Amino acid sequence: MKYIPKALLCLAAAILIQSLVLALPLPQIGNYGENSGPVVGVTPPIPTVTAASGPLRGNSSLLGDNAPRPNPATADSAIVPSPQLVDGQEADGKLGLYLNFSSANPPQPIRGDRGNTDPGPRTFAYEKLNPDRYAPPTTDKGDIPQAMWPMGLSHNRYGNDHNAGWARQENNEVLPVASKMAGVDMRLAPFAYRELHWHTAGEWALVMKGCVRVAALSDEGQTFIDDVCAGDVWFFPPGIPHSLQGLESGAEFLLVFDEGDFTEEGTFLVSELFLRNPVEVLSKDLHAPVADFKDLPHDQLYIFNGSPAPRNIEEQNVTHSAEGVVSGNGSYTYHWSLQEPHAVPGGSVKILDPLTFPVAKTFSAALVVVQPGAMREIHWHTTSDEWTFFLQGSGRITVFSAPSSSRTFDFTAGGVGYVRQGDSHYIENTGEEDMILLEVLQAPKFTDVSVAQWLALTPRQIIKDTLHLPDSLLDSLPREKPIVVEGNRNLTALAGNGTAF
Ligand SMILES: *[C@@H]1O[C@H](CO)[C@@H](O)[C@H](O)[C@H]1NC(C)=O
Ligand SMILES: *[C@@H]1O[C@H](CO)[C@@H](O)[C@H](O)[C@H]1NC(C)=O
Ligand SMILES: *[C@@H]1O[C@H](CO)[C@@H](O)[C@H](O)[C@H]1NC(C)=O
Ligand SMILES: *[C@@H]1O[C@H](CO)[C@@H](O)[C@H](O)[C@H]1NC(C)=O
Ligand SMILES: *[C@@H]1O[C@H](CO)[C@@H](O)[C@H](O)[C@H]1NC(C)=O
Ligand SMILES: *[C@@H]1O[C@H](CO)[C@@H](O)[C@H](O)[C@H]1NC(C)=O
Repeated sequence: MKYIPKALLCLAAAILIQSLVLALPLPQIGNYGENSGPVVGVTPPIPTVTAASGPLRGNSSLLGDNAPRPNPATADSAIVPSPQLVDGQEADGKLGLYLNFSSANPPQPIRGDRGNTDPGPRTFAYEKLNPDRYAPPTTDKGDIPQAMWPMGLSHNRYGNDHNAGWARQENNEVLPVASKMAGVDMRLAPFAYRELHWHTAGEWALVMKGCVRVAALSDEGQTFIDDVCAGDVWFFPPGIPHSLQGLESGAEFLLVFDEGDFTEEGTFLVSELFLRNPVEVLSKDLHAPVADFKDLPHDQLYIFNGSPAPRNIEEQNVTHSAEGVVSGNGSYTYHWSLQEPHAVPGGSVKILDPLTFPVAKTFSAALVVVQPGAMREIHWHTTSDEWTFFLQGSGRITVFSAPSSSRTFDFTAGGVGYVRQGDSHYIENTGEEDMILLEVLQAPKFTDVSVAQWLALTPRQIIKDTLHLPDSLLDSLPREKPIVVEGNRNLTALAGNGTAF
């Protein structure tokens, strides 16, 4: 066996793999096990034919009154035999217990005495991920615009180079309610660039993994360069030209823009600037012969691989003695990873707003960690919508909007939430791990109104006359904003006469 052509080996391997595949049960591609048997009068599998046959349309003999009446006793039944309910599902729907559908086969849209079984068609994965949409608490009412977008449903745009990276976005095209902010999840390979560019929106960013070298130029001609790593933040005001380069282990970061219709497809790239101006003009502008422009890229670069950035950032520190550098309170970065969190029972919070990061003058953010069973308390923001990103774990939010609508949304890591100014909401951890989330406001200071604190600091008579709450409850209200409240890790404990907290 001195020499066997490669093609023959491949063929042999292919035959071997095929026979193995045939011996095993066929993989059920596209079959999530949800729907089988008859539906809409079709009973799969339908017979396979080799030539077209049968009519494309029926005729008037099938019109009601002309056609024979069906017999409901023998028709395909919509009864679901022995539906399986999960813990908490039979409890009063007003309790609104979190329903863990993960092992329900299949889940059913039932709460207490409301709802009924679901004979299909459906795809269980959606319902398991969204139990509060599928089997809502009965306190939900009316209409609330869609407040959740999972990045997992976003189109992913590749960089224009070998494995250089990608970016996927949430904006008001996919989440129409999000009119004031949009977000992008971006990946850069080691030393890959997000091309030099600018845009009309302000760009606030949180590094999630790895490190990025950011470089920018202010409109006064001041330069800026810095390295930021996981947990750090940068901000570029509208129009400020900047570039990003992943460092040796690459990076993934979250960008938040102050325009709801921001799109990664709409940024001003330096390559396009050069491609879209007459070469005569480039030659004049940069005082260079036309030949100097012969190697310009033929298309935009967007995300592409670069030469390794020197380890020593000083080597890339271009400065102009007259204009100087962007520094101090004008700095475009904030090393938020070094900030000590404010710890509270049930979690922790870190706030970053213009009080400490002035350049991002409309961006106020909170990085909140909520332990299992605990909850970011019921609150609202007085002057801004809230753009929320779930960085880890899972949670749910009920948005209450005046006068009398509410709806509950479920979230998992990579999900964007959006709550309009004034709408009350809480964020409850629905998982068994810490829930980590970022709340972003368009406000000069991070503030909220806490319902618990409001009740505590309002004359007792007013509260008692209004809500008829007992003194024991009013006695224990916190005068400080709790921010996060502790809770029972068993979210269905109330169904068994347990407690929620
Ligand atoms: C009309 O449709 C019925 C039911 O499919 C069929 O039995 C009948 O032959 C059709 N009549 C004509 C004129 O095609
Ligand atoms: C760049 O140089 C300026 C002026 O010397 C200095 O203030 C600044 O800290 C330097 N930046 C970096 C990242 O080294
Ligand atoms: C930044 O601004 C704050 C608040 O106005 C001030 O207290 C602080 O001294 C300033 N810091 C720098 C480095 O300029
Ligand atoms: C939900 O149920 C699954 C499967 O039974 C379990 O592994 C998971 O821990 C449960 N989640 C919570 C939050 O209880
Ligand atoms: C949570 O509480 C419910 C109601 O008491 C109980 O049925 C269930 O077993 C508990 N779950 C866990 C994981 O302890
Ligand atoms: C629920 O708890 C209350 C007080 O703790 C008790 O009086 C009642 O009997 C309990 N009910 C059930 C069904 O266990």
